[in-house]
Amino acid sequence: MIRLFALALTAVISSAHAQDPSFERDVVPILNNYCVMCHLPGGAQGGLSLYPDAWSELVGIPSKQSPLLQVEPGSPESSYFYIKLIETGESVGGSGQLMPIQQPPLAQDQIETIRLWIEQGALRN
Ligand code: HEC
Repeated sequence: MIRLFALALTAVISSAHAQDPSFERDVVPILNNYCVMCHLPGGAQGGLSLYPDAWSELVGIPSKQSPLLQVEPGSPESSYFYIKLIETGESVGGSGQLMPIQQPPLAQDQIETIRLWIEQGALRN
């Protein structure tokens, strides 16, 4: 009986892990905590505003520093917004620093959440 319960619990936990990232639930809080203090409308650094509607500023929108789109749905490796979280952007014709500036890089699981969200189509979900 206890074993069955443990098995069921494991199934619940792993399905929660495998849950698809949601933009509103998973990505926006990361942006609000680590990015919007510099990427606000008006004084948006790098010409990018990530508040109050980051999705519309990112998905399908050209980046200023590079020839890439900020977010190309389905393709994290050609999404400048994702690339700036793992390197400066130089390798894809961009420039500047790794984001977030003046802070440690995002945690691996946060970067992975963003990567998966883009890979799964960058939905407004
Ligand atoms: C301390 C201020 C600061 C923080 C925090 C910050 N940025 Fe930036 N961001 C900048 C500046 C300044 C630039 C332009 C110079 C550069 O790229 O280094 C920039 C440029 C960018 C660009 C390139 C824009 C373009 O159109 O080419 C992206 C994408 C970006 N930031 C994403 C983020 C993300 C995502 C976060 C949070 C994880 C973040 N930034 C946190 C200041 C900041």
